[in-house]
Amino acid sequence: MCGIVGYMGRHQALPILIDGLKRLEYRGYDSAGIAIVDDGRIILEKTEGKISELEAHLAGMKCPGVAGIAHTRWATHGEPNKKNAHPHIDCTGTLAVAHNGIIENYQILKKRLQDKGHRFITDTDTEVIAHLVEDHYTGALEDAVRKAAKQLEGTYGIVVLSTKEPDKIVGVRNGSPLVVGVADDEYFLASDVSAILKHTRQVIYLDDREMAIIEPTGFKTMTIDAIAVDKAIHEVDWDLDMIEKGGFPHFMLKEIFEQPETIRNAMRGRLVHATGEAKLGGLQEVLPTLREFNRLVLLGCGTSWHAALIGEYIIEEYARVPVEVEYASEFRYRNPIIDRGTVTVAISQSGETIDTLEAMREAKRKGSRTLGVCNVVGSTIARESGDGVYIHAGPEIGVASTKAFTSQITVLSLFALLLGRMRGMSASQGQEIIQALQEIPGQVQRILDKNDQIYEIAQAYCHHSNFLYLGRGSNFPVALEGALKLKEISYVHAEGYPAAEMKHGPIALIDENMPVVVICPKDAAYKKILGNIAEVKARKGRLIVIANEDDTDASDAADHVIKIPKTLDMLYPVLAVVPLQLLAYHIAVLRGCNVDQPRNLAKSVTVE
Ligand code: G6P
Repeated sequence: MCGIVGYMGRHQALPILIDGLKRLEYRGYDSAGIAIVDDGRIILEKTEGKISELEAHLAGMKCPGVAGIAHTRWATHGEPNKKNAHPHIDCTGTLAVAHNGIIENYQILKKRLQDKGHRFITDTDTEVIAHLVEDHYTGALEDAVRKAAKQLEGTYGIVVLSTKEPDKIVGVRNGSPLVVGVADDEYFLASDVSAILKHTRQVIYLDDREMAIIEPTGFKTMTIDAIAVDKAIHEVDWDLDMIEKGGFPHFMLKEIFEQPETIRNAMRGRLVHATGEAKLGGLQEVLPTLREFNRLVLLGCGTSWHAALIGEYIIEEYARVPVEVEYASEFRYRNPIIDRGTVTVAISQSGETIDTLEAMREAKRKGSRTLGVCNVVGSTIARESGDGVYIHAGPEIGVASTKAFTSQITVLSLFALLLGRMRGMSASQGQEIIQALQEIPGQVQRILDKNDQIYEIAQAYCHHSNFLYLGRGSNFPVALEGALKLKEISYVHAEGYPAAEMKHGPIALIDENMPVVVICPKDAAYKKILGNIAEVKARKGRLIVIANEDDTDASDAADHVIKIPKTLDMLYPVLAVVPLQLLAYHIAVLRGCNVDQPRNLAKSVTVE
């Protein structure tokens, strides 16, 4: 995700800001920029790409200013380029803003500000903040920021500086972290302590709807309702490596634990409860086509292909449109049958996987309308697909995909809801799905709270060399994904199967040495899968069962049970995969494997 650093003190701001940005590099970003108040004006410099490029661009520049803000951007609104990089300025160029998060109501605010004569130059949501603060400014920057913040919907960590009050930087947060760093006559604002740790270990953690004003002589904290708050100063005792990973030993575990938040981000601003609909801004232009098309082809590789398989179940159930899922690598070389009634959806976290990209191009050549479901904004698939939906999971650093997968399923559920409501689905069914979706982040958290139990199961089975994963219906692809996670990071042989297919082969493998992971929530297939569980038990297989909290039948038969909350049949995959991610993670760590960078694998496969 994006990173923020702000500095106000006795020293030249520029080297401190650049150093801070470099320490945020691990978070992933696509562009960077700085704004420094110097001699009554703002020096604003931005570049696309790495911090080293910004550094090279700034080399030799004289900039003695002691107050500045800086930002690494991970694009959410508008392509990653120099223009859209932060900081952003107001119409007068005397005020600069850097922002992390997503402003949901930016379009309404932008329109209002444009009507008042404000001129916008970027495609970002952030630029509205600069103009909004400009609009409210009557002599005190903190008042203007406060009033602006009260109008913002969504998430934000924001820092603002102005040439009109050069000895002041104002920060405000809601849902996106912001800390104040306190040193001797110098103060910092940062999205992440790693950016300022070199200078101070004394920090204040702002809470939502709180602001900080830093000046050369001190700092103030208050709420956005202008009520002063006394904040405790904490001493940071983590080392840099721990901080980068948010206190988790690996990025993969950090990303697994981010899922309540990333799933929420995938839905943010996209659910309309009143009408039971999903609102997907990136599909606005293609709505007429979506009313008429008659077949959907979903393409992906690896984990994204598993998300596509789950999407097939959800979309066919809710929207009653025929869906075909194909490995992108197979699709592109087999002269697929595509007609003008076909819409093709390319699903890719990175947006750069070469097989998915080429398969999408092939579909386009054959006359299909193409859509992208990507995480990386401005990636090749996102650009070339023309229309699509971003999953907004933030940078995924662990090679084995986790949070992107649950966000892909979430977005595909929203897509199914959108299509469903255009076709036969009633408003009340739409509302029921929305209600269930809104409960998912909290339910995922409840599963994450069982981490210790899952660790114990991993300890019991980490020396086994074969695993079987079984599921039915939309949980069959979850079995595939659970097996893939284990293979990828622990190098243990694992197979995922539709539970009923077990008797056509894999059953021959089952003995007392074979752990069998069965996903069996109380959905439409529950009774059937109980039969499969009995078959495993009869052959002395070791049963690890993912079942509902009120389950008894499957649980009684199992050696271990991991309980998950109740949801709609179609939404179980997003819950059921979480314990499997944790199981794979712990087994891999217990086997001494490099979890974040497993051997032979790449995060983004851009060669055939
Ligand atoms: C690689 C990664 C997987 C990922 C797959 C597809 O194999 O290791 O984690 O699922 O590529 O990547 P994409 O970026 O297209 O989703």
